[in-house]
Amino acid sequence: MAKIKTAYFCQNCGAQSAKWIGNCPSCGEWNTYVEEVINAGIDKNQWDKPIDKKPSISKPQTLAEISITQDHRMAIPDKELHRVLGGGLVYGSLVLMGGEPGIGKSTLLLQLALKLKDKCVLYVSGEESEQQIKMRAERLGLKSEQLFVLTETSLQNIFTHIQKLTPDLLIIDSIQTVHTDVIESSPGSVSQIRECASELLRYAKQTATPVFLIGHITKDGLLAGPKVLEHMVDTVLQFEGDRHHVYRILRAMKNRFGSTAELGIYEMQGAGLREVSNPSEVLITHRDEALSGVAVAATMEGIRPLLIEVQALVSSAVYGTPQRTATGFDLRRLSMLLAVLEKRCGFRLGAKDVFLNIAGGIRVEDPAIDLAVICAVLSSNEDLPVSAKNCFTAEVGLSGEIRPVTRIDQCISEAEKLGLEKVFISKYNLKGLDKKRFPSIEIIPVAKVEEVFGVLFG
Ligand code: TYD
Ligand code: MG
Repeated sequence: MAKIKTAYFCQNCGAQSAKWIGNCPSCGEWNTYVEEVINAGIDKNQWDKPIDKKPSISKPQTLAEISITQDHRMAIPDKELHRVLGGGLVYGSLVLMGGEPGIGKSTLLLQLALKLKDKCVLYVSGEESEQQIKMRAERLGLKSEQLFVLTETSLQNIFTHIQKLTPDLLIIDSIQTVHTDVIESSPGSVSQIRECASELLRYAKQTATPVFLIGHITKDGLLAGPKVLEHMVDTVLQFEGDRHHVYRILRAMKNRFGSTAELGIYEMQGAGLREVSNPSEVLITHRDEALSGVAVAATMEGIRPLLIEVQALVSSAVYGTPQRTATGFDLRRLSMLLAVLEKRCGFRLGAKDVFLNIAGGIRVEDPAIDLAVICAVLSSNEDLPVSAKNCFTAEVGLSGEIRPVTRIDQCISEAEKLGLEKVFISKYNLKGLDKKRFPSIEIIPVAKVEEVFGVLFG
């Protein structure tokens, strides 16, 4: 019998060591090394024996020699996912989808598999039984003759079925549940995840079959498993949202074939996920009376303009240290904006609790939201409402200056489309902006934060 080989793996970053060590030299974490069994006895390179669409052994080629097949992307019948992937699913790509439990990862991919009617899809689940998957498919109300469901966790067995079926798309739900016989450590351990992912990667590249992997995330919101997993795959998607809200957001954290600035928005309904193609309309409450502490921001998420509502509540602090809470917005950026208000505009917010919320459970990274945040905070502080027909799109600098943002014309036309009457932009954005294109919205250029308050609150 072959001697059992073991090694220690950092459960945080996947680094390997022959001995146990307390402090990981590669990621700096403490007490993360766990002993795992590695057995080198089994033929690891079974995928070097290619199946079906035979790949040749690679040889050096000039770029001119490499031919790109006409349709190197598979069209996805889900518009949001299609866009987030950068315009379709690239053949042979490995896509990792992470997200909290119960957020809808399995639902999204099963729905996709059912919508791809003319493609043979293999959905491998290590988490649910066939009956559960069937029940879910019935709930989604979709049917496909070409969808095959397999409940299996051994990668070797999965590959046996793949060889027979030769699917056009493979979905693995989830990478943490599959295991390979090559390594003897338990499923979900760092070395298992890494080995399974690399075998699946080899399969994807050799047969030009796109593969979706579903991944669990840790309690800190990071993808579980080694960091190398994220390096290995072509695309990392994050499915997020508040479980108590109906909206779900799909983001690309990494994409070798497209932009990471794209955002897909879904609504979780009783019968699956619905694509939200006009997010601004659902994210803004169409209210008649103006409320204090609410301001509308026009931002860009990827190539799509998005109007969102920023809500702030400023109240006297109960405890000595005032609280600052932000949902959907970077807390450090909020602190910075509050400091600007305090220092440049003389508002005393030091002894106030400030709560900030981006409506709809969305997280915004575009700095164009800054001005709306400042206006919402001040509106709540002064208890003066900002008209529901105003919107803001500008970044705020440390000295209180209003800075220009990119693609301002798209933001303005989105605001105009939704019937808003005034848009506050940076003075420096005026250059090259053709005001005549926006006949039904008033453009108010501002240079300093104080000017905005002058216009808003008189
Ligand atoms: P699921 O896809 O199982 O999540 P994950 O795979 O990310 O863990 O999501 C299940 C949740 O979605 C569950 O809480 C119920 C809800 N849901 C609906 O609201 N409508 C539906 O049609 C389906 C299938 C699920
Ligand atoms: Mg699931």
